[in-house]
Amino acid sequence: MRIIKTENYEDMSRKGAAIVCAQVILKPDCVLGLATGSSPEQMYAEIIQTYQQGGLDFSSVSSVNLDEYRGLEPDNSQSYRYFMNKKLFEHVNIDLANTYVPDGLETDTKKACKNHDDIIERLGGIDLQVLGIGMNGHIGFNEPGDHFENGTHCMDLTDSTIEANSRFFASRDEVPKQAYTMGIGSIMRAKKILLLVSGEQKAEALAKALTGPVTPQVPASILQLHADVTVVADEAALSVYQKQQA
Ligand code: F6R
Repeated sequence: MRIIKTENYEDMSRKGAAIVCAQVILKPDCVLGLATGSSPEQMYAEIIQTYQQGGLDFSSVSSVNLDEYRGLEPDNSQSYRYFMNKKLFEHVNIDLANTYVPDGLETDTKKACKNHDDIIERLGGIDLQVLGIGMNGHIGFNEPGDHFENGTHCMDLTDSTIEANSRFFASRDEVPKQAYTMGIGSIMRAKKILLLVSGEQKAEALAKALTGPVTPQVPASILQLHADVTVVADEAALSVYQKQQA
């Protein structure tokens, strides 16, 4: 596991973007696994900037997203499909037909999950998976539990995740209570993983993920077993980890 310490969120975003851009340059027809939320938001803006400077071509890239709220329409401004369109896809030359986000409107859970898994398989797996981490250690919406899930599944969101994500909604009640999420197995089968972490509020979860026991109680701890993980985290996010190492 490589740990790259950055000064702050902006520095984390620039370095994260450089890694994603390098992936697209090295393998123009790569499959990017993408995340939403605050962690990668500025990184996407940096990628757009590089694209606008003429240095990147997304025409052969495919992408598959980690998760989507169950019940939200793609054009709902809180849906993850909407986030991806606005924050990245509409600004680069990726073919929207090659971008995949779980279908939040599919009420047949089995079908929604199988579709997403089939897509990942058909694409030949993920070359580079971008991840953020939840304050409870979740990755994707794999919440703490008693086992690791392999494939895409429907997750009941924990209170702490609903609380954390309510900052994007008008009220806590509007936060969907369930989401479709890629499983830990699919994440772990990605060839490379890029974990972005910023802020003191993530420091405890990150320290547990990096050095704690590998346990489904801290889903991100499984990343210790992956052969090619790059953690790009700012000083604040690494504060607890660094104290432990001192
Ligand atoms: C989002 C996702 C989540 C977030 C995590 C951190 O697609 O899969 O695991 O990465 O909840 O969220 P932020 O980055 O908003 O702090």
